[in-house]
Amino acid sequence: MSLDLVVVGLGYVGLPLAQEACRVSLTVAGLDLSAAVVDGLNNGQSHVGDLSDEDVARMLGTGFRATTDPAVIAEANTVVICVPTPLSADGGPDLGAVRSAVAAVAEHLHPGMLVILESTTYPGTTEEEVLPILEARGLRAGDDFYLAFSPERVDPGNTEFGIRNTPKVVGGVDDASTTVAAAFYGKFVETVVTARGSREAEMAKLLENTYRHINIALVNEMAQFCRELDIDLWDVIRCASTKPFGFQAFYPGPGVGGHCIPIDPNYLSYKVRAELGHPFRFVELAQEINNSMPAYVVQRVQELLNEDAKALRGAKVLLLGVTYKADIADQRQSPAEPLARQLLSRGAEVTYHDPFVPTWQPAGELLTRVADLDTALATADVVVLLQPHGQYRAIDLAGQSRRILDTRGTLTGADVVRL
Ligand SMILES: NC(=O)c1ccc[n+]([C@@H]2O[C@H](COP(=O)([O-])OP(=O)(O)OC[C@H]3O[C@@H](n4cnc5c(N)ncnc54)[C@H](O)[C@@H]3O)[C@@H](O)[C@H]2O)c1
Repeated sequence: MSLDLVVVGLGYVGLPLAQEACRVSLTVAGLDLSAAVVDGLNNGQSHVGDLSDEDVARMLGTGFRATTDPAVIAEANTVVICVPTPLSADGGPDLGAVRSAVAAVAEHLHPGMLVILESTTYPGTTEEEVLPILEARGLRAGDDFYLAFSPERVDPGNTEFGIRNTPKVVGGVDDASTTVAAAFYGKFVETVVTARGSREAEMAKLLENTYRHINIALVNEMAQFCRELDIDLWDVIRCASTKPFGFQAFYPGPGVGGHCIPIDPNYLSYKVRAELGHPFRFVELAQEINNSMPAYVVQRVQELLNEDAKALRGAKVLLLGVTYKADIADQRQSPAEPLARQLLSRGAEVTYHDPFVPTWQPAGELLTRVADLDTALATADVVVLLQPHGQYRAIDLAGQSRRILDTRGTLTGADVVRL
């Protein structure tokens, strides 16, 4: 075989993986459905925030190439699948991209090949969905080829932990597959952790994300009643965080966003409901609370306007930072979107500012991105800080605004109103 690795799906997860493999001189190609993604990469352009154009140029320098042609799989010793796992229209798992990527692999599967699924999914997917498609042509996992699941733990924008120094969990559908997959990741990841099997590896990822989802919901609910009790929850968290064991700090906010936290726990609750017939109550409650946060922010904006004897209808509301996380450009599932929709539906004049988002269309309506932040801060009836991007640290947001609602607890000063 002429390629050590083919990465299927060159997005936030697949591209950094390909980069890391190129760094240790593996021969790597990437397969993606999107001609725009493939052409961009082959022309040295990165579409993923964590990689610069220079990073892509370095990858091309090692021989990396991207393609839309699935025949490239035939050349690979190892194939890693990093395609999206969104929710379907009814809120359940949509494994369409996984199934079609696996079907492409099955067509070019050859003896000795290692196939790894990295897309986040419900426990059992590798054994129940991927394995039968791969074995349909007669080759057997564990004997003729190897199959494993390894959850991706990429944290976009995190400069301390990347693929190399974040421990990698690996679980095969049999022991031979676990061993071969662990040896593959051992080439470029410092610590490889073997799971008992693929189901445990799949569940480990969902435990990590569900844990965050639930703890964020806990502080979001506490934020609402702490305000009524006149208790500063951020100060409470600061104090609790001094306990050196048994406590991890989570912080309230305007809701949860991104590709993982709002979506992955649904995969788990789907599995529990479909197979066991009962709800995963923690997840459903957390979802209800986290999804209610944009409406709670609207209520807090209304309360601030009330202090100035103003109505929300016609009020100028400026949203600062509309991505799902600070200092990255990713807007997927950002709670800023339902918040903007709710403000617009009540007649507010909504504008936004975000150094990472040149255009924004949250309700099918292109919102004005303020060009002059100083003037916009001074003229808005209420400013809502949604993401504390680094750029805002140099600006006296509270001093320049008439009224400011800080949904992240990062601003200080007598005029700052927190969530
Ligand atoms: N983004 C994150 O921070 C993150 C973190 C951990 C895990 N994950 C998981 O990793 C998986 C991938 O997420 P992502 O954020 O990289 O997605 P993404 O949307 O950034 O990239 C996926 C890429 O796959 C391509 N694609 C879709 N179907 C394909 C197919 N059949 N064949 C070839 N290419 C195909 C798309 O064109 C796209 O370029 C998801 O399961 C996600 O839940 C994401």
